[in-house]
Amino acid sequence: MTDGNSGVSVYDVPAEWSKRAWIDDAKYREMYARSLSDPDGFWAEQGKRIDWMKPFSKVSNCSFEPGNISIKWFEDGTTNVAWNCIDRHLPKRANQVAIIWEGDDPNESKEITYAELAREVATFANVLKAHGVKKGDTVTVYLPMIPEAAYAMLACARIGAIHSVVFGGFSPDSLAGRIEGCGSKVVITADEGLRGGRKVALKSNADEAIRKTGDTVKSLIVVKRTGGSVAWNAGRDVWYHEETAKVSATCLPAEMKAEDPLFILYTSGSTGAPKGVVHSTGGYLVFASMTHQYVFDYHDGDIYWCTADVGWVTGHSYILYGPLANGATTLMFEGVPNYPDNSRFWSVIDKHKVNIFYTAPTAIRALMQSGDAPVKKTSRASLRLLGSVGEPINPEAWEWYHRVVGEDRCPIVDTWWQTETGGILITPLPGATKLKPGSATQPFFGVVPEIVDAEGKMLEGATEGNLCITKSWPGQMRTVYGDHARFEQTYFSTYKGKYFTGDGCRRDADGYYWITGRVDDVINVSGHRMGTAEVESSLVAHPAVSEAAVVGYPHDIKGQGIYAYVTLMQGQEPSEALRKELIAWVRKDIGPIASPDLIQFAPGLPKTRSGKIMRRILRKIAEDEPSSLGDTSTLADPAVVDDLVRNRQNNK
Ligand code: WT7
Repeated sequence: MTDGNSGVSVYDVPAEWSKRAWIDDAKYREMYARSLSDPDGFWAEQGKRIDWMKPFSKVSNCSFEPGNISIKWFEDGTTNVAWNCIDRHLPKRANQVAIIWEGDDPNESKEITYAELAREVATFANVLKAHGVKKGDTVTVYLPMIPEAAYAMLACARIGAIHSVVFGGFSPDSLAGRIEGCGSKVVITADEGLRGGRKVALKSNADEAIRKTGDTVKSLIVVKRTGGSVAWNAGRDVWYHEETAKVSATCLPAEMKAEDPLFILYTSGSTGAPKGVVHSTGGYLVFASMTHQYVFDYHDGDIYWCTADVGWVTGHSYILYGPLANGATTLMFEGVPNYPDNSRFWSVIDKHKVNIFYTAPTAIRALMQSGDAPVKKTSRASLRLLGSVGEPINPEAWEWYHRVVGEDRCPIVDTWWQTETGGILITPLPGATKLKPGSATQPFFGVVPEIVDAEGKMLEGATEGNLCITKSWPGQMRTVYGDHARFEQTYFSTYKGKYFTGDGCRRDADGYYWITGRVDDVINVSGHRMGTAEVESSLVAHPAVSEAAVVGYPHDIKGQGIYAYVTLMQGQEPSEALRKELIAWVRKDIGPIASPDLIQFAPGLPKTRSGKIMRRILRKIAEDEPSSLGDTSTLADPAVVDDLVRNRQNNK
């Protein structure tokens, strides 16, 4: 079937789906309407999906008004996230598998039951206590995808400490900034990580990071993963397996207020250093649990797999907290999609009989390039539902995912959300929503999207503009750690009284939302968010560089690639060697995900007469659309544009 207005394909909800799913079309409409007409009644009911130590009597207390940005949900209730993700399941699920861990090596996997999870988390919690961690303290977690990452996060939650997980691909410098940013005295790492058969020097990165902070970290807890040799600082470093022998395997959960922070997660914005996004305890867990149940239509006994890393918000909400709050079996994967071969995802699905599979468009596009054979040699008979997250999915990749991976049988939920939103905001519900490839479709319960023009005027009907959300939802971030003014400035000052997402968006005649990508100076590389300003400041820190401007450009696999225009210091000559050196420099400074794909040496950058770099022009050149450069006559030196166009770098 096609959409009468635009000719795009439309996929109906399969009949068996509307019957078995939690939510069918009628129920979606009814619940969505109620979530807006009686929000407090609606959310009071949803609030009961988790257990409370002291029940809440207030539901929401939120203001998006300038000067008074305040977001509170269930504020007089108390609870504990680890207690909800573990203890309350024990009467029924002690012997049910909570986490299936699949190692980088296909011969390595293990299953952790809820009873085992309870012991592991309590033990880790006691180790943290023994190292002086108290309620309200921050703990930085720099671990690979091993079960101890889950134990560590839940252990923090159990004792009321705030975890800050840093992705294992970040450099010592980036880690140092994130340790300093939240003042962690305790850091948890592993000797080495293992990805695609290659080792990642986590402990030595952590050592270097801690040195850079001026040795403010008192304890470095090291999990033994590979057994590789590591340097040792006897007064500070401890082996996790030695510490566990000294403590008990029971630990009472701390009673936390709903609004106490659960975690901090650093994310890039258009300016400045990455921000510490703060998420709450009660509202966050209610929202993670609810979205996990309804969006993935999770039922008891299902095997669910989200391929994200716990270093990103997707790992927090949809590997750990949402699934475990729902008593689910969640799969945690240490490896990569193409190791030992391109069938890995599908082999793991067969090995563990995965029913629900959630991954990123960049992985789908990369696998699609190696053709259908690596998929078709596996069965995938267990699969029922597919999901996508992190960036817009192009219709070709969507169709391939649907036809080849899902054999036309599995709906795809294209879930739009952000680190800041805590959980999914715009998405199909598989038993309710007709699908259009490339569209995130419809708002989740309680979510009110609004498309505005540059001046903030609300646009109605079929339209295109900037995406705002006008009402709070329980999973919304509460503040920027230590900088509430920056929270207001970043998200609520562009369009007063509204949360601005930073994304462009189109709404079609059926009311379907199509996210068109970031409209700010944030780029999305393989689903990883990068501030162009961060890459620029890394480049200009190199002694040969005088000026740099970084933009995104369309990249077949990564979605966006990183295109850097670099002006050299006088006396420096462009060369291939220098190009390589600059790429390695950024890689070392920030991490591999920030490596520029293309560097163009530019004698000058296009600037206005007041000296402002015209990024719009640089973007058009990088996108290879020199005919749509627009008016360049206001530039201080229009001739620089001709040089840039002539010497454009090409990766094709
Ligand atoms: C940005 C947020 C959501 C968790 C992982 C990324 C883009 C995310 C989609 C989607 C189109 C998407 C947006 C958003 N994005 N999901 N389904 N369709 N774009 O979280 O690192 O905070 O990045 O990712 O541009 O603003 P993040």
